[in-house]
Amino acid sequence: MDPLTLTRPDDWHLHLRDGALLRDVLPHTARQFARAIVMPNLAPPVATCEQAAAYRERILKCLPEGSDFEPLMALYLTPRTTAQEIERAAASDFVHGVKLYPAGATTNSEAGLASLEAAHPVFEAMQASGLPLLVHGESTDPACDVFERERVFLEQTLAPLLERFDTLRVVVEHITTRDAVHFVESAAERVAATITPHHLLLNRNALFEGGIRPHHYCLPVLKAEAHRQALVEAATSGSAKFFLGTDSAPHLRSAKEQARGCAGIYSAHAALELYAEAFESAGALDRLEAFASFHGPDFYGLPRNRGRVTLRRERWDVPAIYQAAGAELVPLRAGESVGWKLAGASR
Ligand code: NCD
Ligand code: ZN
Repeated sequence: MDPLTLTRPDDWHLHLRDGALLRDVLPHTARQFARAIVMPNLAPPVATCEQAAAYRERILKCLPEGSDFEPLMALYLTPRTTAQEIERAAASDFVHGVKLYPAGATTNSEAGLASLEAAHPVFEAMQASGLPLLVHGESTDPACDVFERERVFLEQTLAPLLERFDTLRVVVEHITTRDAVHFVESAAERVAATITPHHLLLNRNALFEGGIRPHHYCLPVLKAEAHRQALVEAATSGSAKFFLGTDSAPHLRSAKEQARGCAGIYSAHAALELYAEAFESAGALDRLEAFASFHGPDFYGLPRNRGRVTLRRERWDVPAIYQAAGAELVPLRAGESVGWKLAGASR
């Protein structure tokens, strides 16, 4: 088992941002992943194929020399999105999904949907073309308990949507609860989910260990240990419905360490290594490859990668900060260590 060689993986949920921050975080992802679904929650949002094409070009320009990393684009679903735009997206070879943000649910979600009703023609067009809907699954009812938001959204919003649009393909993004695991497991094959490394490794105690810990704050927020265990079971089960999506979401240190700190955990610097730790703790390293490299492309109807990556069982120290956009970015495990190290990648 040592070292560990896998088919080159992909990241099916990633925030790359733009400008100088994009330039400085992209190499972390490109060194290990062949492709990534790039989330469209810029301000203003990446809402049209034209905007997605332009964003894709900016990403390609920032790639390190010689990298063959391929950004897979997603459109941001706004109240102004038309069925025609969906048809254009489905006919393109670079848009692979449409992201639903309930308005107010998370970072840069203000341009999202306050209600799904008006978007029914869009869902119609998506289900006709097979373009998947990527869902931030949290209730935005301010009265809803923050730890219940995912379950409530799935029950009250996503279940009726799946019933009404009965061939719509859906990825429930960054699931965090046992309820979401059961929801996805018992749904039809057209419903899948991504799981982050932080939700596999941390429970909500990590938010308060030795004082309040803004760098462990993300959305959906970390949950109780029983939920973490259900996620580990799902990820390591071998079920093709669950696949890798880091939700690596860089925010500068100054924006995280605030009276109202931003939500988002930066994990791109050690993503695959952190998943390896989680799978190893569950005694399931032999299941990592399918989760990281097979289930995602199979769901999206894309070819599996041909290259390989090798991980060595070697402890390394994660820096306390990375320099990014001329400022400081605090990564997951800052100042601590990771037990696996990426040793190489081939095409
Ligand atoms: C993400 C971000 O910062 O863009 N934050 C997060 O906590 N996950 C948005 C998101 O995916 O919810
Ligand atoms: Zn995200």
